[in-house]
Formats: sequence, C-alpha cells, structure tokens
Amino acid sequence: MKIAIIGAGNMGGAIARGLASSTKEMTITVSNPTTNKLKKLKAEFQAIVTTTDNRTAAKDADIVMLAVKPWLVEQVIKEIQPVAGQVLVSVAAGISTEELEAMTGQLGITIFRAIPNTAISCMQSTTIIASRNAIAAQEEMIVSLFSDMGLTFVVPEKQMAAATAMTSCGIAYALKYIQAVTQAGIELGVKPGVGMKMVAQSMKGAAELILQNETHPAVEIEKVCTPGGITIKGVNSLEKDGFAAALINAVKIAAK
Ligand SMILES: NC(=O)c1ccc[n+]([C@@H]2O[C@H](COP(=O)([O-])OP(=O)(O)OC[C@H]3O[C@@H](n4cnc5c(N)ncnc54)[C@H](OP(=O)(O)O)[C@@H]3O)[C@@H](O)[C@H]2O)c1
Repeated sequence: MKIAIIGAGNMGGAIARGLASSTKEMTITVSNPTTNKLKKLKAEFQAIVTTTDNRTAAKDADIVMLAVKPWLVEQVIKEIQPVAGQVLVSVAAGISTEELEAMTGQLGITIFRAIPNTAISCMQSTTIIASRNAIAAQEEMIVSLFSDMGLTFVVPEKQMAAATAMTSCGIAYALKYIQAVTQAGIELGVKPGVGMKMVAQSMKGAAELILQNETHPAVEIEKVCTPGGITIKGVNSLEKDGFAAALINAVKIAAK
C-alpha cells in the first residue's frame, strides 16, 4: 500500500511518524514545500520517502492524506488532481466530505475526513472519521491505520463538528484543567514541575477508569466522595462555580 502525506507539519509529521512505526506494510511519501521538516522525518525514519513536489508524492498513491491548513486544501487538490481509485483523506478542520468531493471535480471519489487530536504525536489520538463514497473495506482500512495511533471513532458527517469540538478542541480544555489544578497546587506549596505530572497522571487515571471499566463518571465520582468528606466539598464548589456549564458552553461554541 502506498500512502502520500501532503504537508509535514504537526499533523502530517505525526501521522507519518505513527504510520512509519506501525507494523503494516506500506510505502510512505511525505511532501512539504520546505525541507527542514522533511530532513527531520528522514533522519528519524529512513524508509519515508520525502519530496517538495506534491504531485510526485500523490502520483500512484493508493491513499492521499491532506495535512495542510484548511485554506490550502482546494489549491492542493487542484494541484495533485486525485483520480478515481485513489482514496483521499483530509485532516483539515471544517471542510466537509461533500465540499472535498466538489473540489476534486470527481463525483463518486472516495473521501474520508479524519480529525485526530495532537496526542497523535504520542500515539494517543482520538481520531474522528467520516466517509463519503466509501465501501466497508475502505472504511476498515482507514480506521485500522488511525487505530495504530490511538482510538478511532466513525461518525456521520453531521456529527463531525460536535465530535471535533469534544476531542480535537477538547484536548485543550483537558489541558486547561491540568494547568489550573497545577496552579492551585503551586499556591498550596507544591512545586509546578512535579505538580503538573501529578495532575496529568490523575487525569490519565480518570480517563482509564472510564475507558477500562466503561462506567459513568458519576459512578466513579461517587466512589471518591465520602459523605462529610473533603472531595464532595470540592465537587460542590465546582458545581457552584459553574464548572460543568463552562465546559458545556465551550464545546457548544467550538462546534458552531
Ligand atoms: N493541530 C491540530 O490540533 C489539528 C487537529 C486536527 C486537524 N488539524 C488539521 O490539520 C491540518 C494541518 O494542521 P497542522 O497543525 O499540522 O499545521 P502545520 O503544522 O502548519 O502544518 C502544515 C504543513 O503544511 C505545509 N504546507 C504549506 N503549504 C503547502 C503546500 N502547498 N503543499 C504541501 N504542504 C504545504 C507547511 O509547510 P511549511 O511550514 O514548510 O510552509 C506545514 O509543514 C489543518 O488543516 C488542521 O485543520 C489540526
């Protein structure tokens, strides 16, 4: 399988590294207009083919992944001219599969939108996928590629904005939690470096409880809240200060 990745930035670079670390048989070609990121990739993974020419990268590729900024997507599609039989995967935020299909000028071409989050760089992405004109085997293939780099969820196109706000943007809200709790710890005398790791590991633990046990957060919260104890005081303080409402609003605003 030949995969072309157009754009070697945060997303393209992370996807290239993730795919190159996978055990799947594939040839990966990455294109980028400047060479610094390409040289770095090549130094880390000799097997990755690099080029500054998008057309060379995309020619003969089975899968072409677009990892450029959203405003460059149309220009790059026109440049590479994907053909029927190639699978186009866009990681660009905010461009629907319908718009992507129109940009290609090829009705019926197989299109995927894949929205990872930045944790893809440590193989812990939450990747949201929607497809157009794809058969089940193609969907399985794309899900399988991204599943080597974290957890992957296929959603209908109309849920893409909501799921992106919850996960791709949501990682920033989770990081705000880590930052704020670390700040509280500093005020209480805990050194920032160690405090930050404590909070990050607590958050990882909370996430693992949900993912491994498949329980509801309320069930796990109840386990921590001894009647008359200290945790429930904090939980009630969060309620009073609008913690849940602030997060609900943040996700809804980001999804607009
Ligand atoms: N970051 C996120 O959390 C996130 C999450 C999900 C989806 N996305 C999407 O991922 C896409 C890429 O974002 P990013 O954060 O990876 O941006 P980025 O780090 O700026 O990477 C974009 C890359 O595209 C290259 N580029 C510019 N013009 C190009 C062209 N004509 N042909 C080929 N490559 C070109 C840039 O090269 P130079 O720098 O050398 O100019 C850069 O390496 C965006 O559409 C974004 O919406 C991002």
